[in-house]
Amino acid sequence: MTFSAQPVSTHEARVLEDITQHEITALKTRHNLADAHTHQNQSRTQADIVRKLPQLWQRAQTLTQYESEQAFIKAFFQFHGQHHALKRSDEIYLVYAASVAMHITATFLRKHDMSVALIEPCFDNLHDLLKHMEVPMTPLPEAILADPTQVYRLLEKTASSVDAIFLVDPNNPTGTSMFAEGPETFIEVAKYCRDHDKILILDFCFASFLKVTGGQRVDAYAILDEIGTDYLVMEDTGKTWPLQDTKCATLMSSRRLNPEIYSIVTSVLLNVSPFILQVVTEYINDSEADGFASVRDVLQTNRKVAREYLEGTMLRYVEPAIETSVAWFEIQRDDLSGDDLQAYLLTHQAYVLPGRYFFWSHPEQGRSFVRLALARDPDAFEEALQVIRQALEAYDA
Ligand SMILES: Cc1ncc(COP(=O)(O)O)c(C=O)c1O
Repeated sequence: MTFSAQPVSTHEARVLEDITQHEITALKTRHNLADAHTHQNQSRTQADIVRKLPQLWQRAQTLTQYESEQAFIKAFFQFHGQHHALKRSDEIYLVYAASVAMHITATFLRKHDMSVALIEPCFDNLHDLLKHMEVPMTPLPEAILADPTQVYRLLEKTASSVDAIFLVDPNNPTGTSMFAEGPETFIEVAKYCRDHDKILILDFCFASFLKVTGGQRVDAYAILDEIGTDYLVMEDTGKTWPLQDTKCATLMSSRRLNPEIYSIVTSVLLNVSPFILQVVTEYINDSEADGFASVRDVLQTNRKVAREYLEGTMLRYVEPAIETSVAWFEIQRDDLSGDDLQAYLLTHQAYVLPGRYFFWSHPEQGRSFVRLALARDPDAFEEALQVIRQALEAYDA
């Protein structure tokens, strides 16, 4: 067996293969706006939770694992308005990261030789995990979800030959959502999947932003079960609260798929740390109490700052359907790609993500875009935007 050798001596000198490699490099950079993890400081009440960490440790030791799990599941699913799922709360599986849920999903698809229509654009590790598992994929352009009266017909056209449909909602990086104008599009997708025996796979890792921006989530699990669609649904806490990656993701499947999913889950892990579950549950309860203000305020402030600082530059803000924790900008120059701009801004110690990585099938469609992460401390974020604005002005001068 042969492995490809990297001919260069430093990681930085390589062409980076994926978004995560960029994000790792960006962690060494002064103004890191690459990863969508939550780097902002604690709100006053979140800081109170940090002060009582020893008590939470103690509580985790005192309760059974099952009690910690069920308390987390109840708090999270109730907060998100996903009440129907709680009827099968013992079949909501907890994992350390959304990518672990994704790995379990990819294993399931591989075992059944299933093919997938995957939304494009999307976070590239979804595609890469499926690729490593040799799951055949076809791209599903985001635009087919735009009109509830057309989506069923467009799915017939684009997804008829696959076994599963994989959507991210709201989508990272664009903020596109089937739920932006009500549940009709989602209902149509679910009906299509039922009528044509497709499994519907949903990445709801950014779904908290439907709530953060003042909306309500519809009870997606209730709709799926009522329609009779087979599904695999992932949720996450890791993109929402400033928890230094103390996080937990969930995976739930329809009744029919559950026994097999359970057996794959238990081939991967026993449990998520009860201490982590205690901490995350406290953050959920804190956001319930403040109406998500601590999360919303940071993101709204930083989005406004980004728009203001970049107004009149070569970067045009792309308005999302749902404001998530990232902002998407189009470069208004044909002679400069997202890769070029990322490399140029890095010489100013600022890191943004080139858009092409999100377009896993048609990278040229993302050529003129960059993504900025917003979950940062507002002072640090404004400093980064000052640097980026000056760098863009210098480039144009
Ligand atoms: C939409 C989406 N799903 C899944 C993931 C993977 O999450 P994690 O890195 O916590 O495994 C990410 C990461 O940013 C994401 O944006």
